[in-house]
Amino acid sequence: MEANESRIHELGNELFRSMRRWAPEPWQKMWWHDWGMALSLRRPRVQRQLFRFIDTLPGLRRPEAIRDHLLEYMRPVAGELPEAARLLLNVLPKLPASWIAALIRRGARELAGRFLLGADGETINQHLGALQQQGLVYTIDWLGEAVLTEAEADAYQNEYLRLLPTLARSSRAVSGRDVPAVNVSLKLSALTSRFEPADVPGTMERVCRRLRPILRAAQDAGAFVNVDMEHAAYRDVTLRIFMAVADEAEFRDWPNIGIAIQAYLIESEAELSALLAWVERRGTSIGVRLVKGAYWDYEQAVAAGKGWPSPVFSEKAATDRNFERLTRFLLMNWRMLRPAIASHNVRSIAHTIALREALGIESHEVEFQLLYGMADPLKHALVAMGERVRVYCPVGELLPGIAYLVRRLLENTSNQGFVRAGYLEHRAPEELLKAPMVKENEQKPVQSCEFLNDAPADFSREENRQRMEAALIRLQPVVVDGCGSDPSRWLVSTDPCDFSREVGRVRLATLEDARDAMSRSESMVRIWRETTWKERILCLRRLGADLDVRRWDFAARLVREVGKTWREADAEVGELIDFCRYYADRAEVLSRGVAVDKPGEVNDTFYEARGVTVVIAPWNFPLAILGGMTVAALVTGNPVVMKPAEQAPIIGWELYQALLAAGIPAGVIQYLPGYGEEVGPGLVNHPATAMIAFTGSKEVGLGLNRQAAMALEGRRQVVRVIAEMGGKNAIIVDASADLDASVSGVVASAFGYQGQKCSACSRVIVHRDLYDEFRDRLVAAVAALELGPAEHPGHLFGPVIDVEARDRLLRQIAELRKQHRCLYEGQLGEWATRGSWVPPVVFDEVDPSSWFGQEELFGPVLALMRAEDLSEALNIANGTNYCLTGGCYARSPEALARVRREFRVGNLYLNRGITGALVYRQPFGGFGLSGIGSKAGGPDYLLQFCVPRTVTENTLIHGMVIERESQS
Ligand code: FDA
Repeated sequence: MEANESRIHELGNELFRSMRRWAPEPWQKMWWHDWGMALSLRRPRVQRQLFRFIDTLPGLRRPEAIRDHLLEYMRPVAGELPEAARLLLNVLPKLPASWIAALIRRGARELAGRFLLGADGETINQHLGALQQQGLVYTIDWLGEAVLTEAEADAYQNEYLRLLPTLARSSRAVSGRDVPAVNVSLKLSALTSRFEPADVPGTMERVCRRLRPILRAAQDAGAFVNVDMEHAAYRDVTLRIFMAVADEAEFRDWPNIGIAIQAYLIESEAELSALLAWVERRGTSIGVRLVKGAYWDYEQAVAAGKGWPSPVFSEKAATDRNFERLTRFLLMNWRMLRPAIASHNVRSIAHTIALREALGIESHEVEFQLLYGMADPLKHALVAMGERVRVYCPVGELLPGIAYLVRRLLENTSNQGFVRAGYLEHRAPEELLKAPMVKENEQKPVQSCEFLNDAPADFSREENRQRMEAALIRLQPVVVDGCGSDPSRWLVSTDPCDFSREVGRVRLATLEDARDAMSRSESMVRIWRETTWKERILCLRRLGADLDVRRWDFAARLVREVGKTWREADAEVGELIDFCRYYADRAEVLSRGVAVDKPGEVNDTFYEARGVTVVIAPWNFPLAILGGMTVAALVTGNPVVMKPAEQAPIIGWELYQALLAAGIPAGVIQYLPGYGEEVGPGLVNHPATAMIAFTGSKEVGLGLNRQAAMALEGRRQVVRVIAEMGGKNAIIVDASADLDASVSGVVASAFGYQGQKCSACSRVIVHRDLYDEFRDRLVAAVAALELGPAEHPGHLFGPVIDVEARDRLLRQIAELRKQHRCLYEGQLGEWATRGSWVPPVVFDEVDPSSWFGQEELFGPVLALMRAEDLSEALNIANGTNYCLTGGCYARSPEALARVRREFRVGNLYLNRGITGALVYRQPFGGFGLSGIGSKAGGPDYLLQFCVPRTVTENTLIHGMVIERESQS
């Protein structure tokens, strides 16, 4: 049964006619809001800048900052402003900042008041009373986005525990059968600081701990609870939690619980079918709120960034059509999935009513839901038609509500949206009521740029979680080549989380082995140099493809051998895949050389291998860095002696095997596990050494550089050294920063992979205006990191790998505690003695000059520094000899422009974390004492492994010019 088109149009026209009666008039605030929004549509750049300014506003503390930000945002679009506004902009700097700030704050409160009910009980009650008088019912949503700490999750829960009984006392019964008067909506991600889609059981446990008391309070209050749906990454875990808790004995017979389903998701129909099957097993109906979905731009951007297929339809009409399809599904199953149709789109609503009529369902079995402050005439028109209309009312302070407010402003003004077309631009009803027409092949793939990075595993998907778990179970200890008969020469690799677990063992190479390997490599120089570029490139492509097929096994080995969390391990495999593919692409360009012809002369510049290359890799990226340096050398024609880190010989062995399988001849690639002190001289001082590609500490890197520069006997060339030597990276948090984003970005940058990445943040320099607030939230967010073995997807903090480094670090931390205020030190508990653990540590109010000597500190230690202003912050940030990564959180355009210019590091990140550079998109590498050489994963990297040669030939012979083509 389908809805009849002519009936949809009839109902739609009736709604439009009725809506005219409720249209706002010029003496009403709403009229002016709509007028302002309609005006801004004509100036989209001005509108963008205004929205950006509004987004910044709650975080700005001082009146001067408010005035300055307004000027910064509006000046670039001044030419598009009306004359009066332009004049005003010119005089603003002369007016007292306090006046301007007061005026702006008032305006913002006014605007927020359209979409948010505020936070104090009395105001909320007044608003709810007014809605009820207009025949509307409500659902309350407590604004609590970006919960970073457990205290915030507690606060969110407490608001509901407080609200429910209060609302029960003040709300009137709703007309219609079995419909509770009190209705609340909540977001599950706000019930824990660690809503981790990869860890369904852990997240479920954490969320349910706070959700159950809310549900019990709702039962006591006779209320209905709806679970909102958030980003696509949270969908699977949200649904699972919802179904699990609703299936628990105390809630199984309770019908007053519901969930939102988003029609813009391609998988939403399958999702709804699965929900129906589950509800039928449960035996008690639930409510389903059908929405289109509020995060369309976000989902598209995330999918494009990660190289994932987009989870959402790419055409608005496809979402609308799916919405109608799902409406039909709900109405067909209304007894078990009680429908709440949430939309401001008159066509979507008219379609629902027409279908309901056709199916003979009574009107009170379906309710309509609309957002507070949006499409008010439609709400009244629906009430006048006898429909039950529920208004979604967000309550809370402006600061946590700002993301919601900006979403609503964007939604109201989106040129794809019904609200803009119907309520601001007043397009003709016939146009607005047309059935959604989807173009053929509407689902376009999301394209980003010419080189597509490897798509990381999406652990919010169950199939990927299962693959990773299976790979971890499959892992077996590896004994490399029988390991030899002398146990004193065994290098036994153990899991840094728990030393009792062996990862594998290998025979340690001796100095003699190193020399032999170099001699063997030397014998391969000519063969490999003369192997065609095509063949060498093919080897890299094969390796990339093989790594992709076996990515789970490599990732699992990284988890086990170096304590990487699932995402970090997967990203590392992806990085090496990218190196293989990208360097293969770049090698194709290099292989063509450069030809410059003039009459009578041909010139060819081409690139040749340097010779034997020694690759020495660190333990923190034992696959991607080892492999990246190795494949760069190999593809340019250099034989490689590959020395993996002592702490990760098994990953190195598996990479070596993969290189052989990809077609690199034995001898061209050699695997040499051993201690640097023992085998190093044999590699570095060998006369055949042409190049050293090294990543590791500054001491070793500079030492290698010194040795390489020496004219040793038999050495016939200056050894080329590429050395990546780490950093003491800083993040600046400016006064205009988004606090949520900066806290989570700093935590991820400083404590992701236990701060062991060379790109990790070790200093955070915070503007004095934000310092105290930032510090308190940061510490609470660090305290929420769950510590434990990396193979558990919920653990965000694992061991450091290197035992010596651990011991040194613990001694350093003990020393630092004597000089600086230790703000936070994590508890290791049972893990302390099992593996190589160091707790996360945060020092407070660190004097930058006293910290300067701590350059060699590494691991999960973070120093907080206070800065008077951006100039001082930049001085502190630049006050180190390292120049690797750096970051800044700011929303002031001028601050961002200045940081771009003045924060001198190899990789600068604005308004995001400072780790996780991607091949091609963010070529990685520093200068100063951070590195010698060009950026890995960048367009010039391969050039370092080559010697450019130029051949010039005179082709003018006895006055006759010989064309290039006819040369032999
Ligand atoms: P309209 O018909 O204009 O549809 C706009 C929607 O179309 C966009 O929001 C987007 O979903 C989709 N769209 C826009 N451009 C597109 C394109 N190029 N291709 C494909 N699709 C495109 N949202 C959410 O995600 N989770 C939730 O829990 C809730 N809860 C909620 C409760 C209530 C009571 C309401 C009214 C709304 C929500 N929403 C929500 C928000 C909802 O998802 C949606 O953003 C708005 O209601 C807009 O949809 P309309 O039908 O009103 O407008």
